[in-house]
Amino acid sequence: MKRTPVLALEGVSKFYHQGDQLVVGVKDVNWLVQPGEFWAVVGASGSGKSTLLHLLGLLDRPQRGKIYLDGWRVNYQREERLAYYRNQKLGFVFQQFNLLPRTSAWENALLPVWYNPHLDRRQAEKRARKLFHYFGLWPRRRHFPNQLSGGEQQRVALIRALICDPRIILADEPTGNLDSRSGAEVMDHLERLNREFGKTVILVTHNSQLARRAGHHLWLEDGQVIKKE
Ligand SMILES: Nc1ncnc2c1ncn2[C@@H]1O[C@H](COP(=O)(O)OP(=O)(O)O)[C@@H](O)[C@H]1O
Ligand SMILES: [Mg+2]
Repeated sequence: MKRTPVLALEGVSKFYHQGDQLVVGVKDVNWLVQPGEFWAVVGASGSGKSTLLHLLGLLDRPQRGKIYLDGWRVNYQREERLAYYRNQKLGFVFQQFNLLPRTSAWENALLPVWYNPHLDRRQAEKRARKLFHYFGLWPRRRHFPNQLSGGEQQRVALIRALICDPRIILADEPTGNLDSRSGAEVMDHLERLNREFGKTVILVTHNSQLARRAGHHLWLEDGQVIKKE
């Protein structure tokens, strides 16, 4: 039986206007991601990695091409529908952690639950408890982001990404603001989420050593895919 790819891109292009110039974000990207795969998107700065991740994350729309998420064509869906997919199916981790400063670790992790009317709150809190223990953050749950180390903040962000139990984790340079030890730890976590929990992981990085730990690689150069394996 043929599996439905968890993500499929056909001829996807995204351009930006910079003054009166049209700049390539990504150009003509074709890509299939199967459930449970771990991909690293690699390329120099400006090669289109973040643009691609924003498109996959439904945070932006392409001017050309088609994007399918779990077999659903998502390009032309209305904003509420996209927000629903983002919340249900995708978990995001960014370089800058993106935690709210005057909000505890616990509340930061539970934020997506506020936006998800389909999720049982008690159920979500139960999951949050498990995840805080799993990530070794239970004793730190009442701390504010500025009372946590970078590695701890990124683990809170990981819990937040997992709180709605998405199938796909999108991580844009998640180790970029961490020292090498905390970076390696975050990488270990992503690997375990992939191996033990079957999450599909898409990691953007320009660190080739980290990228090597992924099972599949997509190389970008000037917005175009130059290699896939
Ligand atoms: N919001 C934007 N407005 C204009 N140009 C952009 C914008 N975001 C990205 N770009 C341009 O698109 C290209 C790809 O950028 P990006 O996707 O951020 O690359 P990467 O993440 O690999 O560094 C670059 O030339 C960049 O300058
Ligand atoms: Mg980037």
